[in-house]
Amino acid sequence: MDKISKEIIFSKETIQKRVLELAAQISEDYAGKEIIIIGILKGAFVFMADLIREISIPCIVDFARLASYGAGSDSSGKVVMTKDIETSIKGRDILIVEDILDTGLTMQYFVDWLKERNPKSLKICVLLNKRKRRKVSFKADYVGFTIDDGFFVGYGLDFNEMYRFLPDIYVININ
Ligand code: IMP
Ligand code: MG
Repeated sequence: MDKISKEIIFSKETIQKRVLELAAQISEDYAGKEIIIIGILKGAFVFMADLIREISIPCIVDFARLASYGAGSDSSGKVVMTKDIETSIKGRDILIVEDILDTGLTMQYFVDWLKERNPKSLKICVLLNKRKRRKVSFKADYVGFTIDDGFFVGYGLDFNEMYRFLPDIYVININ
């Protein structure tokens, strides 16, 4: 049986402060517009819930469910969509909210999928950017925190469905 140890890397106070900054930036950039915010389930649900309540422009929310990780902490590299959005995005300003940008394969798949439906604009907001792990070149427009590598849980992020409920973000070590 694996032994898992974890330590806090971003406290809930640090996260809250960063969410306020991101929300202020997004509100400024989209001033006078109405956006559709698409959250990627399940990992982004906590971040998205906090973010939309700090954004000062009107928004509509929708969700998609994408998965590339099987059990464990390594990406399978194969992305599957198990739930599509339910809103028409043609000619609309879209902001995707994702938990982690890792290899970039999930976001590349989803962005390509959405672009076929001709949105007016498409931007991406990620909570964590793992910059050393990219397999496809991909840049997010709004980034909460940038880290090199490691596996993170809490604040919506899971390891085998565990730890999503924790209010802080932890890095875990599996021995
Ligand atoms: P990518 O396709 O490799 O960029 O994978 C991104 C997806 O993998 C994210 O949406 C996360 O759900 C998941 N993921 C990647 N790294 C972590 C992590 O450190 N903790 C939890 N989930 C992760
Ligand atoms: Mg995810």
